[in-house]
Amino acid sequence: MSNYHIKHLEEYWQVYRKSVRNPESFWEEIAEEHFLWRKKWDNVLSWDFSKPEIKWFEGAQLNITENCLDRHLASRADKTAILFEPNNPDEKAEHITYRDLHRRVSKMANVLKSQGVKKGDRVCIYLPMIPELAISVLACARIGAVHSVVFAGFSASALSTRINDCDCKIIICADGSFRGNKTLDLKDIVDKALENSPGVKTSLVVRRTNTTVVMKEGRDVWLDDLFDKAEDVCKATVMDAEDPLFILYTSGSTGKPKGMVHTTGGYMVYTAYTFKNVFQYREDDIYWCTADIGWITGHSYIVYGPLANGATTVMFEGVPSYPDYGRFWGIVEKHKVTQFYTAPTAIRALAKENLNFVEKYNLSSLKVLGTVGEPINEEAWHWYNDHVGKKNSPIVDTWWQTETGGIMISPIPYSTPTIPTFATLPLPGIQPALMDENAKEIQGNQVEGRLTIKFPWPSIARTIYGNHDRYRDTYFSAYKDMYFTGDGARRDAVGYYRITGRVDDVIIVSGHNLGTAPIEDAINEHPAVAESAIVGFPHDIKGNALYGYITLKETGEGRDQDNLRNEINQLIATRIGPIAKLDKIQFTEGLPKTRSGKIMRRILRKIAGKDTENLGDISTLLNPEVVKSIKNNALV
Ligand code: WTA
Repeated sequence: MSNYHIKHLEEYWQVYRKSVRNPESFWEEIAEEHFLWRKKWDNVLSWDFSKPEIKWFEGAQLNITENCLDRHLASRADKTAILFEPNNPDEKAEHITYRDLHRRVSKMANVLKSQGVKKGDRVCIYLPMIPELAISVLACARIGAVHSVVFAGFSASALSTRINDCDCKIIICADGSFRGNKTLDLKDIVDKALENSPGVKTSLVVRRTNTTVVMKEGRDVWLDDLFDKAEDVCKATVMDAEDPLFILYTSGSTGKPKGMVHTTGGYMVYTAYTFKNVFQYREDDIYWCTADIGWITGHSYIVYGPLANGATTVMFEGVPSYPDYGRFWGIVEKHKVTQFYTAPTAIRALAKENLNFVEKYNLSSLKVLGTVGEPINEEAWHWYNDHVGKKNSPIVDTWWQTETGGIMISPIPYSTPTIPTFATLPLPGIQPALMDENAKEIQGNQVEGRLTIKFPWPSIARTIYGNHDRYRDTYFSAYKDMYFTGDGARRDAVGYYRITGRVDDVIIVSGHNLGTAPIEDAINEHPAVAESAIVGFPHDIKGNALYGYITLKETGEGRDQDNLRNEINQLIATRIGPIAKLDKIQFTEGLPKTRSGKIMRRILRKIAGKDTENLGDISTLLNPEVVKSIKNNALV
């Protein structure tokens, strides 16, 4: 028997040791016992991090939707698969059973087929958090099309870049989306994006807000017309374990987003296994992850992981502040949610509000609380633990990445003793290491370094779409034969890991990864801007906020600075999205640079963070004099 479900700490250690001693047989047992394969693998794992090339379950065949849907029909057909909670609390929640979901996914898959979508084609999905989003994702998987979900908060230009990068011929979108008391015109954004994405020949439009939209003849089609007519049986396309399942974009330290490619078999096994253990999922649980399916958390822990376990997964369309700050807790009470998984930024925002918003609800159904996306600070951890969990629900601080596909370091609730701000121990199969400045592994405990992973796990991304060299350079070149995470971490006296944050030019704002380069590119497009540098600084709710140092061209000098600030932020919102707007903009006469012309962000970071006591040696700079003037005029 495999150790699919860990129930106590001793068992964790036993399983962990086994998983490290012989990863192949560990994952093979799990894959064998808990999933439906059309054909078993010839080889469990082959890998070479120097190429890099990683293959799990090579030769195996399957369809992930048969694992997420078909195989549950025998015993769970009437069980709720997706519990949809609309933005408007007066609109009825929708319980979509496994039978319904299977039917709707099959119909949607037939719609895609009728539009000429074939195995291997990329399908862009730009939808709000409505059932059609999960259904579209699964429909692609049903027919072997590769979904590329773009978060529906991204701007037209960000959407277009992503569509073009992986050459999508079709997009599934909606007329609009409801967010609190706002209605956003999504179709408008899509229309703008498609002006720069002529490759898209078809746009399927889901009706949600009934906003008036322009339908372009020959390109735009209402989904409901096609959906109603579609057959409700669709044979699953047989996929190889290493066939791509999806592409998901993440920011990098250069301008272009990275289309991380995840494949089918390993991703399924790992997300299902980690879902079961990290959330200690049991048959009658009601599990809720508040992320958006536009991010990896939603892919792995709203859609695939839960459904592969036959779970009930809540999908929430709205925002935590609407109609008031008690919305999350109202939903927990209403649906008797047992596992609740959210981001530290949401906790910090809610912790600022009156305690009555959380105290007035009955939260006794909760058994496990989770966080993801950024380090959780101690204060937020305690608030979550005291007021939401009532000190009765363990908090799992889960560390992982778009690239890792699934949770990597996390407590196993009711097994691993938790400590605030510590992601604690690696999950079975995960072999972390900390590296020093000389690229040597740091042994022992009570040490700090750069976090790497020594051995492949089943859901590691296999490449960056269309750019394997960049994949190798970004993740496998810093340390020989290791995957480099881009994060720093500390290992304490008992071997617990605490993630300290990014060590590259990615800044995490409200749990969203933002590369500095694309933001600077957007700013530099402003005709009055000569040069810019972005750094993060600590922010109560967002974790980090963005501070921009901008030098102006002559044409910009003498212009009203607040107007300029607005224009620059508007430009960022258009190019990337409102999440990337700057909180502070300081106009400077120059940026501190090394003699080779590299901007010294370290200094700018310190100034933005009000830590100007010791700026380090600045004498080697090309222009040390600008530091003083930047410091004197800092917006702190
Ligand atoms: C950060 C999200 C501290 C980290 C699943 C990582 C965290 C980046 C944690 C990936 C955590 C995620 N504690 N930091 N529990 N979880 N991070 O790709 O810097 O959106 O590299 O994946 O978020 O963000 P991504």
